[in-house]
This record gives sequence, C-alpha cells and structure tokens, in this order.
Amino acid sequence: MITHLRLSNFRNFESLDQPLGPGFTILAGENAQGKTSFLEALYWLSTARLLRGQRDGEAVRHGAAGCTAEATLEGGTTVAGALEVGARKKFFLNGASLPRAADVMGRIPTVCISMFDLAIVQGDPSDRRLFLDMELSALYPSYLRHFAAYKRALEQRNALLKMAQERSVDPLAFEGWEEQLELHGAEIRRFREEYVASLSSLSALVHQEMASREEVLSLRYFVRDSGGSLGLTRGLDIARGSTQVGPHRDDVEVLIDGTEARLFGSQGQQRTAVISLKLATMEAWKDLLGVAPLLLLDDMLSDLDPVRRSRLCAVVSSRASQAVLTCTEASAAGAEILGVAEVLTVQNGTVRRG
Ligand SMILES: Nc1ncnc2c1ncn2[C@@H]1O[C@H](COP(=O)(O)OP(=O)(O)O)[C@@H](O)[C@H]1O
Ligand SMILES: [Mg+2]
Repeated sequence: MITHLRLSNFRNFESLDQPLGPGFTILAGENAQGKTSFLEALYWLSTARLLRGQRDGEAVRHGAAGCTAEATLEGGTTVAGALEVGARKKFFLNGASLPRAADVMGRIPTVCISMFDLAIVQGDPSDRRLFLDMELSALYPSYLRHFAAYKRALEQRNALLKMAQERSVDPLAFEGWEEQLELHGAEIRRFREEYVASLSSLSALVHQEMASREEVLSLRYFVRDSGGSLGLTRGLDIARGSTQVGPHRDDVEVLIDGTEARLFGSQGQQRTAVISLKLATMEAWKDLLGVAPLLLLDDMLSDLDPVRRSRLCAVVSSRASQAVLTCTEASAAGAEILGVAEVLTVQNGTVRRG
C-alpha cells in the first residue's frame, strides 16, 4: 500500500508531495491538468516504464534537466526513480540504487487499466506478448531472467543470420545461441501457457459480472510455429535474415463466445474484455501475494455506458483494496466508490483535496 507520492519535474508536476489514503482515491479535473501524469508516475515506479511515449525522457518536465518520483509504502519502504535528460533512468529501493531498471518491477504490485490497454485486444501479437511479458516479469523474477537471456540469444543469432548472408559462418557459432534459445524459450512458453490458462478462467468470472449479457470470455495461448529445432530451420532463417521459430512470435487469442474479439467484437465488447482481462490480472496477483495490488484506472469510467460503468464500479469496489481512479467529474464513479473515496482535484500540475 502506498502512503505517499513525491514528484519533481515529472510531466507537468513541478513538485508534488501527496499523501495517499489506504482505500480509493479519485483524481478529478479537466483535461490536460495532470491526472494521467499522476498515475503514470505510480506506474513508472512499479514497472520502470511510462504509460505513453516511446522515450523515458518524455517524462521530464519541459525545460527541466531531470525528474524524480518517490513512493513511500506502508511500513516506510521507499521506491524511487530518477531520470536525467540524456542519461539512464535509475531506480532506488530505500535509497539504495538497484543494479538494473527492470529490478524495480514487482516492488509495487500494480495493475493499471488505461486506453492504451485496448491494444491487448485490438493490436498486434507484439502488443499481447508485451502484456504477458510485463505481467510475468513482475510476478516472477525467474521469468525476467529467462526472458532477458532469450532476448540476448535471439539478438546474437539474428546477427549471425545476417552475417551468414554475406559469408560463411561456423555452425558452432550458431549452436551455442540456439541451445540457449531452446532452453529459455521452452521456459518462457511454459510460464506463458500456465499464466494464460489461469487468466482465462479468472477473466471469464470477472467478465460475467461486467458484460451485459451471457458472454463467455476466454484466452488461448497460440504457438505460431510448428516447432522443430533451430538447427533445422537455420537455412531458411538465413534466407529471411531472422529467427522464425520461438516464443517471440507467439500470440494470445482473446475470445468472446469462442470467436476472436479482435476481429468480431464490437467496440463495447472489446473494451469490456480488456477491463475484465486486466481485473483478472489483479486476481492473479491476489492469488500469488495474498493481497490485492494497487489498482490504477485511467479515464475508464467516462466512456462506458451507465450500466457497464456501474458494473465496473461494483467489481472494483468488491475486489480492489487500494485504487486510484481518474475522471473529469468525480460523480462518474458509482455510489459504491464515491461513497468511500477521497476526492482530489488536479489542476495545472497541483493537487488539492475535495
Ligand atoms: N514532459 C512534460 N513537461 C511538461 N508538460 C507535459 C509533459 N508531458 C506532458 N505534459 C503536459 O501535461 C499536461 C497534463 O497531461 P495529462 O496528465 O495527460 O492530463 P490529464 O490526464 O489531466 O488530461 C498536458 O498539458 C500535457 O501536455
Ligand atoms: Mg488523462
């Protein structure tokens, strides 16, 4: 549970020192005041990634040399991040620098639901793999290790494939990396398949509470290649200049009543599917940790019809423990949430109560 957030020069916050309540907080305010930026700072501290934007430097307030964010957790632990323009971002646990940015993942268990998550249903396989990889890396440090080793081996093999288009390359050079790819690739698939199976049943349950009619949401991990050893596909891979077999090409199918939501779902169905899926990840965290992670909901209430909105609020209020929700009008949050939430108004990079 987060008790405090401090920011300096993060997006449009020049400086912020904000206590956070243990339950629900609503950030209300007009457009472009800093609501998403506030959530993004919490997201950054829990994932080392920004919600939007490609480069970390985009978080630094225009004209400033760097930014910092620091969250204090119940019990006094601090998780902080610092970024100077042109330098690497750094993260700190209780003031001690973490060796790699990715090491901050999972320190503040967080589930964030924003418009960007629509890509999980509407986007490319890479969007869905990113979703799985982020989740699994935060949940299981050993996944992150397999993933990093796989990524490195893939880059090395792909570089060799390109080289082999120009001149002959000793097969032994390939074999070491291929062994690594097969070893870590099998582990990655094992983690992902297991997680997708459990998310599939968790999200089916949440979706039943969220959807307006009897609709079954399910997920299926999809291996796109037909297997086979990398040694055997090497010749073909050299011709194409990239590795065609492995978990870096897999996908997850999001199905509503057995058909792909990406192709056949209405906008409303797709949106509800994403929300159910993300709330299911909250349940997965809960199963693993025993407590609900921090829930961040960015602008998800305003675009839903009143029925779906009140269902979402009911699901959130019954399942989340600490949550921060943004909306233009606090009244968008249903009675279940509004009744117990603290309302903060965000205006031009400042936050006040009420
Ligand atoms: N690095 C930055 N420096 C200064 N302002 C920024 C930076 N990044 C975004 N902004 C601005 O901060 C304001 C708040 O953005 P945002 O948090 O998305 O608002 P909201 O969610 O309240 O609509 C916007 O005007 C945006 O253009
Ligand atoms: Mg916003």
